[in-house]
Amino acid sequence: MKTITDLKEKILALKKEKNAVILAHYYQEEAIQEIADFVGDSLELSRKASQVDADIIVFAGVYFMAETAKIVNPNKKVIVPDVKAGCSLADGCPPKEFKTFLEKYPNHTVVTYINCTAEIKTLTDIVCTSSNAKKVIGSIPEDQPIVFAPDKNLGKYLIAETGRDMVLWEGSCIVHEAFSLEKLIDLYKKHPTATIIAHPESETHILKVAHYIGSTSGMLNHVKNSTNDTFIVATEAGILHQMQLDNPTKTLIPAPSKEDNTCACSECAFMKVNTLEKLYQCLQDESPEVLLGNEIIEKALLPIQRMLALN
Ligand code: 13P
Ligand code: SF4
Repeated sequence: MKTITDLKEKILALKKEKNAVILAHYYQEEAIQEIADFVGDSLELSRKASQVDADIIVFAGVYFMAETAKIVNPNKKVIVPDVKAGCSLADGCPPKEFKTFLEKYPNHTVVTYINCTAEIKTLTDIVCTSSNAKKVIGSIPEDQPIVFAPDKNLGKYLIAETGRDMVLWEGSCIVHEAFSLEKLIDLYKKHPTATIIAHPESETHILKVAHYIGSTSGMLNHVKNSTNDTFIVATEAGILHQMQLDNPTKTLIPAPSKEDNTCACSECAFMKVNTLEKLYQCLQDESPEVLLGNEIIEKALLPIQRMLALN
C-alpha cells in the first residue's frame, strides 16, 4: 500500500512530466488541498481555469466545476479523479425539465448558479457563483424579470438582499440543508461570544441567525480579518482545514447537522469521493476525461464569459 507521502511524491513527478496543473476546491480532503497548485472557491477556480497554461488540468472538485474548466479551456485535457463527484444542485435540475420550466417564463433573463450542468448553462443568460451573485443580479436592468436556478435557498437570500422578485427553481444543496437550527442555537448558547458564519446555500432560518453570510472565500476572509476568536461555521467541513491554517489560535466550531449526533460537521459526500489515490491514478491514466460537444461548449461559454467580465 502506498503511503500519503509516496502518493504525493508520485503525483508531483507525474505532474511535472505531463505538464499538468491541479486545481482543487476547499471542500476536498486535506491531502488533496496540500498537493494542489491552486485551491479556491468556485469563482476563483473558474477564473484560474481560464488562465491555465498547462496541457492537462486535473480538477479535484465536483463534476460541474471540471466541466466549467473544460468550457473555458476547450483545447486542454481536463481530467477528474472520479466522475461520480456529482452535486445535488446540478443533479436536481435536469435540462429537459428546465427547458419546459423556462417556456412558462418567456422574456425572463435566466441567471444560473454555477452549480449546474454544462447543458443547463447553454440555456442560461448569465452564470453566477455565491461570491458574485448580488453583483450579477445588480447588472440586470431593474425592470427585467429574472428566473434564478437551481438553488432556491440562495435564490431566496438574493431576493431578500437585492429586492428583486425572481422566479425560483426548486433545487437545494443536501449538505447546507442539513444544519439544525435548534442545535445551532443550543451551541451558540454555550459560546455566546462566537460569530456564526454561513454559506448562502443554507436555509433561510439558518441565515437569519448568522452574523456573516458569504461564499467559501468570503467566509475565509471574514474569519481572517475579524478580531473575534470563536466562530461557528455553517458550511461544508472541508473549509476548516484552510481556516485553521490561516487562524491557528482561533476556535472554529462546525455547525451541527440535523441527523448526526456523533459528528457535528457536514461533509459533502460528492466532494469526498475524490481521494489522493484516485487523483494519482487519473493523472497516470489521463482519464477519466471531461468531454463535451463543441456546440455545448460554445453555448455554455457565453454566460460564463459574461460573469467573468463583470468582476
Ligand atoms: P463556493 O462558490 O463558495 O465555492 O461554493 C461552492 C459549493 O458547491 C458550495 O456548496
Ligand atoms: Fe453541491 Fe452541496 Fe456538495 Fe456544494 S456542498 S458540491 S452544492 S452538494
